[in-house]
Amino acid sequence: APASAADIELAKKSTINEILKRGELRVGFDAGYPPFEMTDKNGNFIGFDIDLGKELAKAMGVKYVPVNTDFDGMIPSLLADKFDIIISGMTLTQERNLKVGFTDPYIIMGQTVLVNAKHKGTVASYKDLNDPKFIVVSRMGTTGEEATKRFLPKATYKSFEKEVDCVVEVLNGRADAFVYDLPVNEVFQRQQGQDKTYLLAEPFTFEPMAIGVKQGDPDFMNFLNNFLRQLKNDGRYERMYDKWLRS
Ligand code: ARG
Repeated sequence: APASAADIELAKKSTINEILKRGELRVGFDAGYPPFEMTDKNGNFIGFDIDLGKELAKAMGVKYVPVNTDFDGMIPSLLADKFDIIISGMTLTQERNLKVGFTDPYIIMGQTVLVNAKHKGTVASYKDLNDPKFIVVSRMGTTGEEATKRFLPKATYKSFEKEVDCVVEVLNGRADAFVYDLPVNEVFQRQQGQDKTYLLAEPFTFEPMAIGVKQGDPDFMNFLNNFLRQLKNDGRYERMYDKWLRS
């Protein structure tokens, strides 16, 4: 059957048209999550996700507009149209996917554990932390929190507002371990942990990270997935990976 007038109207409502008309791509993320999104000395947002957003804006011929937002409110903010897309190291979970659309994953990660050095020799796997005597921390509203509750139900769990708060707790020994995404914990271990912490770097969850968009916009989803495939295969993705993720 030919496209109805309603179909044509719907197609024009794609976020693509709004972005092109505005001349801006507004990207939601939460800085403080190295090496994906962080703030440099001059107050600029930098990292893998920031570069990904900039490449996307370039591909659409519009200006990149960063919107630094609390991760816990990221999905409500997208739905309230505070920005056009989420690029925030967000794990594609089935629960979130019921509320927003996700592109194909742009990277795969998993949970790891940053442990206070005093446990070296006794805590050799995340499983060893499943005991009320251990204080395990993670960030509120993340898959790190979810994984801790699910895989370490007997540990004493404490949640914090920011990644850096979790790291500080482990560094000063108020907490025993921080359960969080692999590349992020790797950066914390390298930059701040050194001999005060060690990393159990074998991921124990499977976490695809993807770009989040509002549901009901197949044209935008199609554009984003084709953009990601192009980026991954023409050398740009590898350069970004080398710059931010090859330690
Ligand atoms: N991958 C984790 C999740 O989806 C944590 C992401 C946190 N992102 C951030 N930009 N702070 O829950």
